[in-house]
Amino acid sequence: MQNVKKINWGILGLGNIAHKFAEDLILVDDAKIISVASSSIDRAKIFSKKFKVKNSYDSYQKLINDKEIDVIYIASINTLHIEWTIKSLEKGKAVLCEKPLAMNPADVKKMIATSIKNNVFLMEALWSRFNPSISKVKELIDNGLIGEVKYIYSEFSFLLKKMNKKHRLLDPKKGPGSLVDIGIYPIFLSYLLLGKPKDVVAKAHYFNNKADIQISMIFHYQNAQSVMYSGIVNNSDNGAKICGTKGEIYLNSRWHETDSFILVNEMEKQIFEIPKKGRGYTHEIEEVNKCLKKNKIESSLWSHKNSYELSQLINQIRISSNQ
Ligand SMILES: NC(=O)c1ccc[n+]([C@@H]2O[C@H](COP(=O)([O-])OP(=O)(O)OC[C@H]3O[C@@H](n4cnc5c(N)ncnc54)[C@H](OP(=O)(O)O)[C@@H]3O)[C@@H](O)[C@H]2O)c1
Repeated sequence: MQNVKKINWGILGLGNIAHKFAEDLILVDDAKIISVASSSIDRAKIFSKKFKVKNSYDSYQKLINDKEIDVIYIASINTLHIEWTIKSLEKGKAVLCEKPLAMNPADVKKMIATSIKNNVFLMEALWSRFNPSISKVKELIDNGLIGEVKYIYSEFSFLLKKMNKKHRLLDPKKGPGSLVDIGIYPIFLSYLLLGKPKDVVAKAHYFNNKADIQISMIFHYQNAQSVMYSGIVNNSDNGAKICGTKGEIYLNSRWHETDSFILVNEMEKQIFEIPKKGRGYTHEIEEVNKCLKKNKIESSLWSHKNSYELSQLINQIRISSNQ
């Protein structure tokens, strides 16, 4: 077999998502996890043993000092994204940072400015953008298969059984709320297909007046509307539909990580089944590797501007839901 030039990855913060991401990363031919860092050295060592990682660190600083690393995947809590993204970029390390990139547009702007200043790659890990079914849906819509999009419905919710105030989704110190963690996906879908809306309306319920636990949102466009929901107080089927003047697309559950959808229009009813590689994180990893090999500092599929505008939309929703 031909030798493939590997991109060396480091992982910062070894919680739930870091494990899932690593399981996918080992499926990508030109990617290798070379180092990991955790606040707990035991956690780092267990992780390294599982994924055959060379270096285990007990501090994030040691990870960003590691000269062998090309790119760092930031998988820590939301409120730490800005600090470790900026520190990594300043050390010349490319960054794939978990969503939301930061807690507000001003911080996203600072992260982007650091990427540009240091000429180092930065991307938000908005993995649904690289999901093969979602890419195909966008292509079909761009080619007019359902006519002009008039209405989108999408949701993401699950039931968090114990409302523990220390939970990442409820603790104000950890960047909580359903909106930034899972509501970001329905917002992304509307933004991907219809861009920035004219008006935003939202209503939410809160835990301790701080973390939104359910939120309903409407994006009002010139000629269309998008209705979105996220919440951690109920389960749901987590589907999405996109309805146009000539047909509809129904994304199967859970739509943000789907591997199938149905196209219904005047001509046909067609089921598309497009398997993901692994859980689907492989596709964003491949995109990062591709960009790094081309010396790019951003992806054209999920650009700096896209992350900034997404963050602005989240901010508009926050303002509307607090009124
Ligand atoms: N793309 C996706 O599908 C997806 C899914 C879930 C979550 N996420 C995102 O991934 C990030 C992490 O989520 P997660 O579900 O993996 O969370 P998690 O299981 O709670 O892990 C978060 C990690 O952050 C680190 N951390 C640093 N300071 C912390 C503090 N004060 N309290 C708790 N943890 C702290 C810890 O790593 P160490 O102790 O090991 O350093 C911890 O393991 C979030 O930004 C979230 O939005 C993405």
